[in-house]
Amino acid sequence: MPDVKITIRRNGSLHVEGLFTLIDSNGQEIPINKPAISLCRCGHSNNKPFCDGSHKTCGFQGAEAHILAAEAAAAGSGAQ
Ligand code: FES
Repeated sequence: MPDVKITIRRNGSLHVEGLFTLIDSNGQEIPINKPAISLCRCGHSNNKPFCDGSHKTCGFQGAEAHILAAEAAAAGSGAQ
């Protein structure tokens, strides 16, 4: 059983829960004092790497929407 669960939120953050260590780009540990965090994947958070809810107002759409659209288009054209 994995120690960490990462959930991709629809058009939103990456919700991370479990036992993990978060390291910044300088190799320094970012202290986590919660059982779960949400990481920004829209790029608009003012509190990176954490989500601050900005994805709700910036029009962010997760890649899953694009993948589903591409798959539907491919299925319609007979391509795989
Ligand atoms: S995903 Fe929430 S602010 Fe970027």
